[in-house]
Amino acid sequence: MGQRVIGIETSCDETSVAILEVDAKNVNVLHHEVASQIPAHAVYGGVVPEVAARLHVAEIVSLLDRALGTQTPFDRFDAIAVTRGPGLATALRVGIEAAKTLAFVSGKPFIGVNHLEGHLASAWMSEANRQQWQFPVLALLVSGGHTELILMKDFGSYRVLGRTRDDAAGEAFDKTGKLMGLGYPGGPMIAKFAEKGNAKAFDLPRPMLHDPSLDFSFSGLKTAVRLVWEKLSRSEQQDVKTLADVAASIQAAIVDVLVAKTLAAAAKVRPRCIAIVGGVSANRSLHETMSQRMRAAGEVYSAVHLLEPARGYHTDNAAMVALAGAWQIHNGKYHDWKRLDAKPELDL
Ligand code: KG4
Ligand code: ZN
Repeated sequence: MGQRVIGIETSCDETSVAILEVDAKNVNVLHHEVASQIPAHAVYGGVVPEVAARLHVAEIVSLLDRALGTQTPFDRFDAIAVTRGPGLATALRVGIEAAKTLAFVSGKPFIGVNHLEGHLASAWMSEANRQQWQFPVLALLVSGGHTELILMKDFGSYRVLGRTRDDAAGEAFDKTGKLMGLGYPGGPMIAKFAEKGNAKAFDLPRPMLHDPSLDFSFSGLKTAVRLVWEKLSRSEQQDVKTLADVAASIQAAIVDVLVAKTLAAAAKVRPRCIAIVGGVSANRSLHETMSQRMRAAGEVYSAVHLLEPARGYHTDNAAMVALAGAWQIHNGKYHDWKRLDAKPELDL
């Protein structure tokens, strides 16, 4: 039997608890629940840390109760994994305190997980990906808070090759979506409008595309979108076709840069697999463009597998946290729960 790990995630705007049974080849999801706070934050147009922490407090006990049941709750898991960072300090602490309480009363091993490693692990959640998986894996981690190119040499062995110098890709989607009045989060809404739009309708910049580094920058794009938007008349701003064209142009600019930089990194490090993970990996256009350009390059990428998280594991969830915890435990790493604190700025 594999190791059963309970995972707890409260780094941003999802409260989530999962129990996974993990062995060297398989991942069995015994329980998984995500309570999204998106409707509460949408009212403010973005995540409000104080509201996030309060809602995690309100949700966490009932999520744990549903995961563990009431009879013999501690028989359901062998170890506890919790996100320790990066994320919102007060939000992280809710999950950490819950996990510490579980460790205290159950006496079971405890591990603090890096949320970014959780996103990397989300690609391993899919059986098809596990079959194709070969190191080195080049991961494009694109979320609301992060945009990083990471070389995974093994489980637990990571090198950051490039990262954003300002806004993350998800933030670029969210901020431009907000400007267009599409609500929070903007990413899924821009993707939806973009389906019917012309990506060439507006000429937007592709920041850092020709820069030799593997870094990104999205704040200039946000400014360019603002200029385009402000030139439109009131009625154009409310016209569905125009909204679709602006959305498609924004999406194309972001996707172009993400794909080009990932392939530039791939040319340097020659990975066996390319994984796209994090909330923005739910974007179909990103996946399709990456896949098309890899095919167009012919021989070069013919043996490279493109991996993405299974449905439901793109955005924040506790299953990926439990799995990253299981990887660490497999490598003999544990934490003393009495000493572990949140690390809001944690990096890989
Ligand atoms: O990984 P995640 O749930 O949270 C962080 O760790 O930040 O990512 C959330 C981000 C948001 O910025 C959201 O707009 C973006 O993922 N997102 C998308 C899509 N679905 C979620 N962006 C573009 N297209 C999507 N379909
Ligand atoms: Zn995340």
